[in-house]
Amino acid sequence: MNIELDKNRLPNHVAVIMDGNGRWAKQKGKLRVFGHKNGVHSVRETIEAAAEIGINVLTLYAFSTENWKRPKTEVDALMNLLVSSLENELETLQKNNIRLNTIGNITLLPLKAQKGLNKVMGLTIGNDRMVLNLALNYGSRSEILEAVKTISKKVVNNELEIENIDENTINNHLYTFSLPDVDFLIRTSGEQRISNFLLWQAAYAELYFTNTLWPDFKKADFYNAIAEFQNRERRYGKTSEQIKTT
Ligand code: IPE
Ligand code: IPE
Ligand code: MG
Repeated sequence: MNIELDKNRLPNHVAVIMDGNGRWAKQKGKLRVFGHKNGVHSVRETIEAAAEIGINVLTLYAFSTENWKRPKTEVDALMNLLVSSLENELETLQKNNIRLNTIGNITLLPLKAQKGLNKVMGLTIGNDRMVLNLALNYGSRSEILEAVKTISKKVVNNELEIENIDENTINNHLYTFSLPDVDFLIRTSGEQRISNFLLWQAAYAELYFTNTLWPDFKKADFYNAIAEFQNRERRYGKTSEQIKTT
């Protein structure tokens, strides 16, 4: 890619809401599942681009807690696609030294998907170039709710003092406990919403919306998005002048 990026100003954690598969297929007069199948190419391109650039953590929103409400045929197709992609992309992960991780309640996924995930997570556990974090049956509200319950139990059992609960306590009880905050959140397809994704973790993320539908999102699009990130000034509540002098 001949897009110049500043290696000193890369986002540590990039998260992507991969949206627009259904509309892409519809535009072509095809069924929604055709869009999902073609979205897999974009997944591979995005993973490779992120690894090339030197991103440490890439989180991809693959299936939300709300996506169960879709027609069963579509849900089944998405789960089958997950299983086949895990088989097909293992080589890409190994070749690029990428470790697979998941967030979300994967125990509610079909057994075949759970087995595939556990296999690939096991095989890639030693890879340390990048973490590919797949959000599956993920919902930010249920993640926070579970954290609140676990923390409450610890208080009741005298394992934790209320006074000692801080932001780190909450962080440590989320699925993302081992991962850094999201720096950059990309959503494709023109929708401008968060859809219950990483509400806590993306509190100070830079947001990036593109009209490109997910199956059309390629390496160059990811590079362009990162270039845009590098033009943003992250002020974290401070003034622009303060940022420039530090
Ligand atoms: C994103 O594409 C894939 C998933 C949510 C699994 P959509 O299927 O949401 O596509 P649109 O938004 O209907 O076009
Ligand atoms: C968000 O996309 C979930 C994933 C990309 C997996 P949706 O297409 O499900 O989001 P909404 O329902 O339009 O907000
Ligand atoms: Mg959608």
